[in-house]
Amino acid sequence: MTQLTTVMLLFGGESSEHTVSISSARNVFAALDETKFDVELAFIDQSGKWWLLDSFDQASDLADVSQLVPILGTKKFTTLPSTKYITPDVILPILHGENGEDGTVQGLARLMHIPIVGCEIATSAICIDKVLTKQLLEQNGIVTVPYAVHLAGEPLPSFSQLSAQLGDTLFIKPAGCGSSVGVSKARSDEELSSALDEAHKFDVKVLIEKAINARELEVAMLGNGANAKASGVGEIRPDSEFYTFESKYSASSQSQAIIPADIDSELSEQIKAIAVKAFAVVGGQGLSRIDFFLSDDGTLYLNEINTLPGFTNISMYPKLWRQEGLSYSALIEALITNALDK
Ligand SMILES: Nc1ncnc2c1ncn2[C@@H]1O[C@H](COP(=O)(O)OP(=O)(O)O)[C@@H](O)[C@H]1O
Ligand SMILES: [Mg+2]
Repeated sequence: MTQLTTVMLLFGGESSEHTVSISSARNVFAALDETKFDVELAFIDQSGKWWLLDSFDQASDLADVSQLVPILGTKKFTTLPSTKYITPDVILPILHGENGEDGTVQGLARLMHIPIVGCEIATSAICIDKVLTKQLLEQNGIVTVPYAVHLAGEPLPSFSQLSAQLGDTLFIKPAGCGSSVGVSKARSDEELSSALDEAHKFDVKVLIEKAINARELEVAMLGNGANAKASGVGEIRPDSEFYTFESKYSASSQSQAIIPADIDSELSEQIKAIAVKAFAVVGGQGLSRIDFFLSDDGTLYLNEINTLPGFTNISMYPKLWRQEGLSYSALIEALITNALDK
């Protein structure tokens, strides 16, 4: 009998995407082949405490659950108050946003000497910051949407000045969130002011972008370094004015994922080539979903790089690999193998 690989499935988290992470993790858990993997459920509550669960249902009632504590440099966690040691071969972070997707958990894994699925510290920290990502991509000749930055405490910019540079509709978003949290449009000084207030609830750094009338195209990356492969291109058709939190996740959402996207093969190859280049530029490892805007005038912009994309049952990342013939289970296994090979 072959030995099982112990996987610490890490989910929940402190970010605004806590519930998204739980639904992603449930799917990932269901897909992990129990003849190959021994899975430990490590849940991070919204206050940032770690818990060792026996089942997902315990996440909503932690009264009888043990806390999970890292012992740095030993590859071991211990539970509290009882002491049971957990020695994962690999950490599988199904976390989004702050203190999950941003290099912090990746840093902890490094200090624990445990391999972790996906991008390492610097890549995660850069890609969570939409401004740093743009700066790095632009330095490398990859086109992103024109923008300005507003830092908390700076004077309120004037809408007319911004719009002279960025057009008559602006998109305002926190630099470091995901799932469209804190994202809104502005067409006047008043809207700009409330959009900035809203975005600053989530981040001191806020991005002000030109609104692009565009199709939203996405590519999934899988693999390490030079061996990373791009999937085919998929398209998201949001059911609302733009792809909001509700249009992403609500049960009644009519948003569509079209795979493969109805675009010509030349454009599809071009998008895949940019995704491969962008993944290399940011030093991507393991996985990422790379999102593009194709504007009405044919300009292609790289919108963002998600180093830990969603794994819910409607999520694009696993669907794009499904289209390439890789089942959800085979995909998770490939991610774990890549982490162990890093
Ligand atoms: N500059 C823009 N022009 C038009 N739509 C945008 C722009 N920026 C964001 N959006 C819309 O808002 C959604 C969320 O923004 P995005 O930058 O992808 O942040 P998140 O990390 O929250 O997904 C996008 O999927 C798109 O529908
Ligand atoms: Mg997005």
